[in-house]
Amino acid sequence: MMHLFDILNRTAPEPWSEAENLPWNEPAFSLRMLNEHLNQAHDAASRRLEIIDQHVQFIHSWVLNGVPSRILDMTCGPGLYLERLAQLNHVCYGIDYSPASINYARRQAERALLDITYSLSDVRVADFRSNWDLAMMIYGEFNTFRTADARRVLQKAYHAIRPGGRLLLEPSAFEQIRRTGQRPPSWTTYRSGLFSENPYLELSEAFWDDESCTATTRYFVVDLETSAVERYSSSYQAYTIAQYSDLLQSCGFTDLQYFVSLQPARLQEAVNIQVSTSVEQANLDTLDDFIVILANKW
Ligand SMILES: C[S@@+](CC[C@H](N)C(=O)[O-])C[C@H]1O[C@@H](n2cnc3c(N)ncnc32)[C@H](O)[C@@H]1O
Repeated sequence: MMHLFDILNRTAPEPWSEAENLPWNEPAFSLRMLNEHLNQAHDAASRRLEIIDQHVQFIHSWVLNGVPSRILDMTCGPGLYLERLAQLNHVCYGIDYSPASINYARRQAERALLDITYSLSDVRVADFRSNWDLAMMIYGEFNTFRTADARRVLQKAYHAIRPGGRLLLEPSAFEQIRRTGQRPPSWTTYRSGLFSENPYLELSEAFWDDESCTATTRYFVVDLETSAVERYSSSYQAYTIAQYSDLLQSCGFTDLQYFVSLQPARLQEAVNIQVSTSVEQANLDTLDDFIVILANKW
């Protein structure tokens, strides 16, 4: 267990050395995280439903042309996308390693008699099954993987997609990760929250490593009754558009298209920004936001 004094001796972390990620897969943490996923006051873990409805419309009408399809969601969380896609007659398979999210997703699917299978597993090692028309990973989790793991996930997705099928990724633009790593330190108190049900003080700091282009965020969570301290860290790999393209092409994907959002209202803007010149690439790299990549397997 850490004590308050231990904070004094901290050093800048090596990316991923303190933790692989936030403990999404720990039962108690995952239950608290589920509240954040379902909270309609913010977009912290999943987007609010009114935004997800628009994304689902984009996926259904634009990516899948309204044709009933087989969809794999890698990191599906509580199934908010798959639930809606299954209602539009798609056959869905969701993988996530958060027990509370998968339990919630299964309950929702059973209640509504939807054709969705969920697997509680780690996408880095999970069996992706085969013959998917679409494999997707939505809302940034891609960047929390070390590059070797990200590549492994992409290779597995490539094999699991049928010839002619597609991949939909929503990772962070380069600048979004850099800004994350350059955020100033801050502190906040909570009566209860993501890190504990008990009152706590959250001290956060961030690091940007220019050489490896990684950001690491670190939280010290101080129990306000006992002063016990817990440390949480997560690291993020930044990629330029050129690097995303290289990575995806090296895994076999072709015909890459880049968009600025999954929202249909921004589709025209997105279509105009399909990356064909280095200026457009540079523009996307400087977005402090998520980007959307659509790729084909032929
Ligand atoms: C930001 S949330 C997004 C969830 C969902 N895509 C959405 O937009 O509602 C990231 C999700 O990735 C999951 N996750 C992170 N690392 C994972 C891993 N290695 N294997 C499986 N799931 C993982 C977390 O449990 C969490 O549900």
